[in-house]
Amino acid sequence: MKPIPSLLTDWYRANGRNLPWRETSDPYKIWVSEIILQQTQVAQGLPYYLAFVRTYPTVGDLAAAPVEDVLKLWQGLGYYSRARNMHRAARTVAERWHGRFPQTPEELRTIPGIGPYTAAAVASFAFKVPVPAVDGNVCRVVARCTGLTDPVDTAAGRKMVEETARGWMASVEPDLFNQAIMDFGAMQCVPAAPHCDVCVLREVCVAFKAGLVADLPAKKMRPKVRDRYFSYIVVRCGGTYYLQQRTGKDIWCGLFEFPLIETDVETAWDRLPATEAWQRWFRGTVPTVSSEVYACVHQLTHQRLHVQFVRVTVGTAPCGDAGWLAVRREDLGSYAVPRVIDRYLQTGIAADSF
Ligand code: ADE
Repeated sequence: MKPIPSLLTDWYRANGRNLPWRETSDPYKIWVSEIILQQTQVAQGLPYYLAFVRTYPTVGDLAAAPVEDVLKLWQGLGYYSRARNMHRAARTVAERWHGRFPQTPEELRTIPGIGPYTAAAVASFAFKVPVPAVDGNVCRVVARCTGLTDPVDTAAGRKMVEETARGWMASVEPDLFNQAIMDFGAMQCVPAAPHCDVCVLREVCVAFKAGLVADLPAKKMRPKVRDRYFSYIVVRCGGTYYLQQRTGKDIWCGLFEFPLIETDVETAWDRLPATEAWQRWFRGTVPTVSSEVYACVHQLTHQRLHVQFVRVTVGTAPCGDAGWLAVRREDLGSYAVPRVIDRYLQTGIAADSF
């Protein structure tokens, strides 16, 4: 029986995915791919990666770009703080490191948005530093293979995963090992219904032998998801629509959205005219409200957004709020908006008359 690291790298040579960021040792491109893939599946992230490295071939190009352009290119990926951090990080690398990424995980971690995982990924893939890049895939493979029952989303559990992975990678190429275990977790040792019947680790996998595959990795209790109720008021006055920019510590800071009425409970569209915001916005006008409401649920990590879009037509410009921007319909697409709004703009009913 071969040792586990060789089993993993052999499996990877035969089954691993050909991905463009694996064909480069440019730390900038590897870093871009890692930021994009942080909360995004490979299939969804791939076109964004290609667009980013085409538009900004070097870290200097990204650093020199206006942040609005970066957000626009990011649009649709969600978690926009990643794009902002990425831009800030590019400026740090351009200025503090003269456009060259540092090579050690410790130095990489001083860059905004680079945590232990990304630092390890960049250091190992670009510079072959022997440091394990522990993501959810790696936690799952290690926890199952070794039968680790400590929750992997605690510092202690994570440390155990890291130490095991560090030991395994000592005998093989660091970049090859990290890619191998990551793909093994993503393709073979998947969360639900893993392919244990054809697994190269089945002889050594503690979880498989003990019938614990479905129970591992163990996780601690999740914090409760918060429900929020967003009513977007899509106000049209002739060919003009209204947007506002989100500010503050909340989600989507800096992105644009339609005027928003947030309520503590679900509020039917025909109840919205009774709200204080509505009364203020439409004082002196007679809004026509469409009963054709577009509603959806948008899931974020710790929040569930119940979103409805309510169309309102006015004959004269509404009072609105100080922050409202009057935007021509054809210009709506040039503002960076949250994914849920982008989806709304793409829908059939939206295409007709929003
Ligand atoms: N997810 C995060 N980093 C990745 C990588 N380098 N290859 C494939 N999937 C990944």
